[in-house]
Amino acid sequence: MSFRSELIGNSTIHLGDALEVLPTLQGGFAAVLCDPPYCSGGTTAPERLRLTSAKYQSSEHRGLYPEFAGDTRDQRSFLAWSTLWLSRARALTAPGGLVGVFTDWRQLPVTSDALQCAGWVWRGVVPWDKTEASRPQQGRYRVQAEYVVWGTNGPRALAGPTAPGVFRMPKPNKKHHIAGKPVELMEGLLRIVDGPVLDPFMGSGTVGLACQARGLPYVGIECEPAYFEIARQRLAA
Ligand SMILES: C[S@@+](CC[C@H](N)C(=O)[O-])C[C@H]1O[C@@H](n2cnc3c(N)ncnc32)[C@H](O)[C@@H]1O
Repeated sequence: MSFRSELIGNSTIHLGDALEVLPTLQGGFAAVLCDPPYCSGGTTAPERLRLTSAKYQSSEHRGLYPEFAGDTRDQRSFLAWSTLWLSRARALTAPGGLVGVFTDWRQLPVTSDALQCAGWVWRGVVPWDKTEASRPQQGRYRVQAEYVVWGTNGPRALAGPTAPGVFRMPKPNKKHHIAGKPVELMEGLLRIVDGPVLDPFMGSGTVGLACQARGLPYVGIECEPAYFEIARQRLAA
């Protein structure tokens, strides 16, 4: 099978479907850090089937970024699909290597289920507190956090640097993706990683930029050509 692939310094990026690209990669990753489509944005099927811009952006920002793929699965298919890619990613990860998967409050239970179904040892949940910059809701609690479900590929030695268990920082002012995350957040999460990083859902390349900043080899996969191009340009800049 042929994919478009590019080597940019220490980073290799692939344009293709993660499930198809993963079996073609060489193993030995120290960590899998990624932000897959949450398949969230509503509790009913019609709500979930809306465009990603309608689900995850306020009306004044719609049209600023391309739509992204793979965000309409229901809970059962999300569990099956997540288990598949997490299994393939684990097969490429060194013993004791890390996995960190972003999710929101709706998909937190199914994401921790999928991680364990795929054979990872579930170790915890790291909240990303997006601060009071998140919109308040009258009569409700502010939806102020997203989460990184994390685990390891079998036992992991209690050795090496330490990292925080909570990160507090707002969403980036200048985003490159509907669901763009701060590069500094990824850098913080990579503090305890000292080898190559795999990111099957690259989006605009945020994890890749953090790897560049930390001097870590990076392999990213993205199936949307528009976002592959945005990531390619950011990593090359
Ligand atoms: C939540 S976004 C990642 C955003 C990224 N964290 C950033 O800061 O730009 C998830 C990305 O995964 C991509 N994607 C969805 N399904 C995919 C698949 N099966 N294979 C590869 N990429 C996929 C989407 O197109 C989307 O760009």
